[in-house]
Amino acid sequence: MPDWSRGDGSCLNFRMEGRGVAVVTGASSGIGAATARALAADGWQVMLGARRRDRVAAVAAEVGGRAEPLDVTDPASVEAFVATVPACRLLVNNAGGALGWAPVAEADEEQWRVMYETNVLGVVRMTKALLPVLEASGDGQVITVGSIAGTEPYPNGAGYNAAKFAVRAVMAVLRQELLGRPIRLSEVDPGLVETEFSLVRFGGDAARAAAVYEGLTPLTAQDVAECIRWIASRPAHVNIDQLVVLARDQAGARQVHRRPS
Ligand SMILES: NC(=O)c1ccc[n+]([C@@H]2O[C@H](COP(=O)([O-])OP(=O)(O)OC[C@H]3O[C@@H](n4cnc5c(N)ncnc54)[C@H](OP(=O)(O)O)[C@@H]3O)[C@@H](O)[C@H]2O)c1
Repeated sequence: MPDWSRGDGSCLNFRMEGRGVAVVTGASSGIGAATARALAADGWQVMLGARRRDRVAAVAAEVGGRAEPLDVTDPASVEAFVATVPACRLLVNNAGGALGWAPVAEADEEQWRVMYETNVLGVVRMTKALLPVLEASGDGQVITVGSIAGTEPYPNGAGYNAAKFAVRAVMAVLRQELLGRPIRLSEVDPGLVETEFSLVRFGGDAARAAAVYEGLTPLTAQDVAECIRWIASRPAHVNIDQLVVLARDQAGARQVHRRPS
């Protein structure tokens, strides 16, 4: 049993206080960090995972949660992380993102591999590993952050499209395979959200990342976190299968309204 005592004197234990334990992957920034904050404020004991230890530890300290290093592309890392989670009622599969912007004819196969490993196999690994404790809770929930890129392909996005289409298939299959068992399965599919997403996609090019959101009002990480918090707070018989959330300035993956500068 891990020690959930925090240096600040607060203590999390597994007496299933409040709503129970929620695991959030990719909680060091963006939607994951905002989700950890929203869930903690709603009475969840939050367990946060990500690769950047300092960043994820800072968010955990802020919300009175617990942070552990986690690389969802590494089976050993997932195994070590899950070993510290003896009870859990909610898994938010948020870790993910896009790498690169190129036509299929110029596809960088290494970037495609990392996107598949993170957005698809990462979700499969985490879900598979936590299914027993989620089911044992009597009302487990898995909420996966997909994307409108998983329903609407766009030029230069095929690697990310393929990964998010794939994870949507995984969630739909799980929904059928787990029918009759006490586990709910949801997918939240946002459009443009201003996070570190574009910075990562464009290899740290801040100007190129900023241009993605220029002249429009994108969603914030908090907007998406609020959707996740809401899904997680529905009664046990209600399964929100899919929730698509877009900025008012966006009508689809390829359709955005930008104010003239
Ligand atoms: N922003 C958007 O416009 C948008 C739209 C639709 C969907 N999404 C999806 O929303 C999710 C969150 O993205 P975001 O917008 O919040 O971007 P972000 O700020 O870049 O956050 C991505 C998070 O994923 C974590 N992560 C990446 N690779 C990981 C790995 N191998 N193992 C564990 N954690 C990993 C990162 O943490 P570390 O680097 O510390 O590991 C970070 O915490 C992603 O699944 C993304 O595809 C984003």
